[in-house]
Amino acid sequence: MFQSKILTGRFVSKNPLQTFNLGVKIAGMLKRGDIICFIGPLGAGKTLFTQGICKRLKVKDFVNSPSFKIINEYSGKIPVYHVDLYRINSFKEIENIGLDEYIYGDGITIIEWAEKLDRRSLPRKRVEIELKIRNKNERYIKWQQYQ
Ligand SMILES: Nc1ncnc2c1ncn2[C@@H]1O[C@H](COP(=O)(O)OP(=O)(O)O)[C@@H](O)[C@H]1O
Ligand SMILES: [Mg+2]
Repeated sequence: MFQSKILTGRFVSKNPLQTFNLGVKIAGMLKRGDIICFIGPLGAGKTLFTQGICKRLKVKDFVNSPSFKIINEYSGKIPVYHVDLYRINSFKEIENIGLDEYIYGDGITIIEWAEKLDRRSLPRKRVEIELKIRNKNERYIKWQQYQ
């Protein structure tokens, strides 16, 4: 499948607020139907980044990792679907969630632990954000938008 990278960037975050603020900034370029795929280990800052995105989208609900439900729906300026695949162990389980309904819906879909998805099942149009833990307070963050 043809993929073109249209936007890439990188940033070294020195503290939690910088990661949150990067989320606020990146949310400014999102629109209905966009999909964000977070890649990175536990404690990297995926949920914090998501909180920044949600702030900009005027979500009033409390934004946290969806623990039992796997998907949380928030209402902001546009609907936000927050998916966390941390507890998912197989492609079969992912099929059962019915992710497609969200991905092809009219809101913004944010997926934590997107590395658990089969890349071929991901939509072509997406923003991938990778976070790496450098040390206690430093995160290396890289993003690429595919269209
Ligand atoms: N630069 C940083 N960016 C993001 N989080 C940081 C940073 N430095 C320390 N932290 C801490 O790392 C944790 C990140 O948690 P969280 O966003 O829930 O991660 P994840 O969702 O990736 O598991 C928080 O406790 C936060 O305070
Ligand atoms: Mg999380």
